[in-house]
This record gives sequence, structure tokens and C-alpha cells, in this order.
Amino acid sequence: MDRIDAHKPSGDVKMAAQLLGEGRLVAFGTETVYGLGADATNDKAVASIFAAKARPQFNPLISHVADAAAAQALADFSPLALKLAAAFWPGPFTMVLPRKPDCPVSALVTAGLDTIALRVPAHPVAHALLLAVGKPIAAPSANPSGKISPTSAAHVRQGLGDKLDFVLDGGPATHGLESTIVAVLDDVVTLLRPGSITVEEIEKVIGKPVTFVEANEHAPTAPGQLKSHYAPSKPLRLNATEFEDDEAVLTFGPTDHTGPLFSLSDSGDLTEAAANLFAQLHAADASTAMAIAVMPIPQEGLGLAINDRLARAAAPRQSA
Ligand code: TXA
Ligand code: MG
Repeated sequence: MDRIDAHKPSGDVKMAAQLLGEGRLVAFGTETVYGLGADATNDKAVASIFAAKARPQFNPLISHVADAAAAQALADFSPLALKLAAAFWPGPFTMVLPRKPDCPVSALVTAGLDTIALRVPAHPVAHALLLAVGKPIAAPSANPSGKISPTSAAHVRQGLGDKLDFVLDGGPATHGLESTIVAVLDDVVTLLRPGSITVEEIEKVIGKPVTFVEANEHAPTAPGQLKSHYAPSKPLRLNATEFEDDEAVLTFGPTDHTGPLFSLSDSGDLTEAAANLFAQLHAADASTAMAIAVMPIPQEGLGLAINDRLARAAAPRQSA
């Protein structure tokens, strides 16, 4: 590939950046795998990632930024996190860190958690794109859910072609393996996903052992283990068609309930409901209501992921 000057973006990079800025979906090459990108600060754009991938669950997504300075605007970096950033960014390395209170990234990207996954790709095309957009870009691998991760623009077009506004060709993804993910929280570095940056390399930088979590995210939470999903503190019930006065209601379509209402979508639009889900769940949980009731959400399209998330949020809690 020709050398790319990130400060003089090509026509394709400019086009991709403009589309992302308009809330559209753009796949782009990185050194690990191709990402399916959207403006991480735009709730609806992020919801459309899940719709395009037909993901039955809202896993939190990685936010991609051009450099460590842009990452530091979004998350709190401990001295340990700064060391890791200096050692492995740009590169195939993702850190889960505490979200800054004023972090503008959509709650759907971070699945309602108070942490955020950040990556600074080294690939010159991805870097040029992130510089040109000037916003964090949320991107899972650019494959339909359950299919293998794409390492070329052709793979992406085969899998998702009709659901995308643009594919920014970065040539073959040379690593072909997703980034290493670590959480850096309370001075503990935990491996969440192995990748081409190895545990040994990480331990050399931090000067102490890396810890590991159970692969099964639904296992009972051990003290200090990461919670992978936000769970409300109030009881939650689903498919509610009648409501108590002291219940906060997450609405989907019209209702005549007169108690506190938190609208997922007035018009019954699933993409809009997905975009609002985590913010409204938080708001209902923070309200003075005793419990939360959710109106029925159709079990189709993005409704599957919404209902999956709500079912987990409603499940009896296993106390730590
Ligand atoms: O190489 C890669 O990492 C590619 C390219 C496109 O950057 N991206 C990628 O994204 O593999 P995805 O969505 O397939 O994987 C993201 C992983 C998920 O397993 C998710 O659970 C985890 O990151 N993750 C994201 N935010 C998290 C958070 N706040 N806490 C814990 N895990 C998080
Ligand atoms: Mg993936």
C-alpha cells in the first residue's frame, strides 16, 4: 500500500468521515479486522450497528479514537493505564477504563456501564479516518452476528454489503485476530480477551501479574469481578399491560398510564427504542418510583436484543 498522509485525507477517507458525521454506517479496515463503524455519540447511529449485524444481544462496543489524547477526553487514565497506552497505542490493544462523567459516548455503546472500551488503531487508513471524523467511532467487527470476522473489504461486502453506506478499503487486515482487551480498574489489570498483544508483553510493562476473569460472564459475580452489564437496582417486570401507580413505566407506543413514563419510542420504532434503552432504564431506576414495568416489545429485528437485555435486567439477582 502507498504511504498515507493522515493530514491530507484521500477522497474515500473524506467521504467515509462525512457519512459517519451524518449518522450513517461505514465499515473500515484496521490492522486487526474490519470494523462496522458509527458515530459513538449518536444513539440512533449506534442502534443501527446492532440492527445491521442482527446481533441478538447488546454487548458493549469498542470506541475507536485517533490518539491517546482523544482517549483521555473520554475516560479516566490511572498511571498504569497511561503506561499501557504509551506502550501499546496505536495498535491492536483495547483498554476498558472508567468513563468520565461528561463522556459524550452513547450509553448503548457502553451497555449502560460506567466503563468504556477504548482503542487507538495503528492502521494508516483507520487513523486517517478517525482524525478526519474527530469523534469517537463505535465499531464491532464488520460481520453478521455469529459469522467470522472479516479481514478484507470483499468479506465485508459479502456479509453486510446491503446494510452499509460505505466500505473504506484498508487492504487486507494483517493481524486477522481481534485486539487484546484488558480492563484497567482500581490498579488491577484484567485480561478480558486474548489477542496479539500477549500477557507476557503486558506484564513486562506493568511490572506485575495480569489477572483473569471466568470466560462465562453469567457466572455468579465474585468480589471484584467485572460486571459485564448494567442491572437496575429496582425490580423490573416485562410485558406489562397494566401498571401500579408507583411504577415507572418504560413505554413503547401509546399508553394511558398516568404514573411516571419513560419513553423508549412513542411511535413503536425498534431502532429508536434501542437507542433510548439504556438511558431510559437508568432514568427510571433513578426515579422515585418503587419498581419498573416495561410495555411489550415485539420479538422481531432489534426487539430480540432489547428483550434479551431487559430479561437479564429483570432476572433475580445473585448477590456477590
Ligand atoms: O480488533 C478489534 O477489537 C475489533 C476492531 C474492529 O477494532 N473490534 C471488535 O469489537 O472485536 P467487538 O464488538 O467484536 O468486541 C468488543 C468486545 C466485546 O467482547 C465486549 O464485551 C467488550 O469488547 N467490551 C466493550 N466494552 C466493554 C466494557 N465496558 N466492559 C467490558 N467489556 C467490554
Ligand atoms: Mg466480533
